[in-house]
Amino acid sequence: MFKNQVVWITGASSGIGEALAQEFAREGARLILSARREEALAAVAEKCSAAAAVHIVPFDIAEETAIQPAVDQVVATAGRIDLLINNAGISQRSSTIETELSTYRKLFEVDVFGQIALTKAVLPIMLEQGNGHLAVTASVAGKIGAPFRTGYCAAKHAMMGFFDSLRTEVAHKSIRVTTITPGYIRTSISENAVRGDGKTFGKTDEAIAGGMEVGPAAEAIMRGFRKGKQEIPVGVGMEMHALRIKRYFPNLLFKIMNKQYAKVAKSNQLETQ
Ligand SMILES: NC(=O)c1ccc[n+]([C@@H]2O[C@H](COP(=O)([O-])OP(=O)(O)OC[C@H]3O[C@@H](n4cnc5c(N)ncnc54)[C@H](OP(=O)(O)O)[C@@H]3O)[C@@H](O)[C@H]2O)c1
Repeated sequence: MFKNQVVWITGASSGIGEALAQEFAREGARLILSARREEALAAVAEKCSAAAAVHIVPFDIAEETAIQPAVDQVVATAGRIDLLINNAGISQRSSTIETELSTYRKLFEVDVFGQIALTKAVLPIMLEQGNGHLAVTASVAGKIGAPFRTGYCAAKHAMMGFFDSLRTEVAHKSIRVTTITPGYIRTSISENAVRGDGKTFGKTDEAIAGGMEVGPAAEAIMRGFRKGKQEIPVGVGMEMHALRIKRYFPNLLFKIMNKQYAKVAKSNQLETQ
């Protein structure tokens, strides 16, 4: 299905993006891999030898001036873009009271404005092609509020709104939009998450350590793409049930979440410590 298709994955230097790159390589796609760390991207590219072609295009998605040159490079290299997976992202581990406004801005620059800027730069190319597919790795955090993640949850809710809204505008122009809503997946996400002062959290927390393995998560996302799903939930923990509870019994979910956090706070095992 994706043979010789040009698939551009951001956040491809580790975690979900890296695992997705390997999945699309097995499908024989022509891959473009992006993230900031060039060496890590090159290492992922080596693992994607089954792909029809692999190119790395390193850039910082939070740097507005880096977006258009990256898009130009992809078009010059591949000639077209069939699927863009907006997967780059950073999480947060800090309470609202200890989170500086600059940290909220940092989260939004990467998780929101970077994704919007790149999508806006790619959209005219897809319109010109007369088809295309835009995807975003949002999160269960884009549907449910969780403690110590006010910035991250706000950013992922924003992405769900942006891409659900965009879908309505472009569906009749043969451009598909897919939102991916993972639960806890075992990646470096909590290690790379920001604390209140913007510094890196630096460790894998319990929730992520107990999450779904990244390989099976990428396989599940691939199955969703193959079936043409517009929203792909992926995960194995209680958070996936929470999605359904939030949808049908929001007050029950708020009660459960409040109770759980109160228990954690009482035992003084705050995830941010
Ligand atoms: N793991 C989970 O439990 C989970 C759950 C729901 C949603 N997600 C989402 O899944 C996506 C991938 O995360 P992951 O779990 O795979 O974590 P990860 O291993 O930390 O991967 C994050 C990726 O984003 C890239 N990135 C971060 N900041 C960037 C920037 N300023 N510019 C360009 N690239 C940047 C990183 O590459 P460089 O450092 O090389 O730039 C890396 O490739 C994120 O959007 C995350 O929010 C993850």
